[in-house]
Amino acid sequence: MHSTLVTLFAAALCLVPGVHTFTNPCIYQSYKCGFNLLNDYGYNLTELAAAVASTPSIPPLPDVLLLQVIYRCINISGGIVGNSYCFAGCINMNGTLVNDQCVM
Ligand SMILES: *[C@@H]1O[C@H](CO)[C@@H](O)[C@H](O)[C@H]1NC(C)=O
Ligand SMILES: *[C@@H]1O[C@H](CO)[C@@H](O)[C@H](O)[C@H]1NC(C)=O
Ligand SMILES: *[C@@H]1O[C@H](CO)[C@@H](O)[C@H](O)[C@H]1NC(C)=O
Repeated sequence: MHSTLVTLFAAALCLVPGVHTFTNPCIYQSYKCGFNLLNDYGYNLTELAAAVASTPSIPPLPDVLLLQVIYRCINISGGIVGNSYCFAGCINMNGTLVNDQCVM
């Protein structure tokens, strides 16, 4: 877990993507399912795919599987990076301050 975060942090530093502002950005340091970001936070599949592409530990995924990835919110302006792909599905924990989880 710790090494995954270090890897993600290093990956985020290497990126210089365009600056986005979201009307409803994710909560900084929260973990959210792709479908949750899409439905409740106004993200789109292009942004989810870009977040996964910035995460070396997650292979490129078709759109339907991008929805089952947990994304980590990396800053207060709504930047996201892929955190983990939930092969058995992602669970919406139904709370802005509660982290979503993979089905175990
Ligand atoms: C997704 O959102 C980004 C940033 O707001 C925007 O530039 C892009 O055009 C959107 N893509 C689609 C397919 O809506
Ligand atoms: C937040 O992260 C996104 C995605 O990496 C980046 O585009 C944006 O510039 C960052 N915003 C700030 C304020 O650091
Ligand atoms: C979140 O809400 C949805 C819709 O009300 C429900 O189907 C789902 O079971 C809830 N998830 C949890 C973890 O309570």
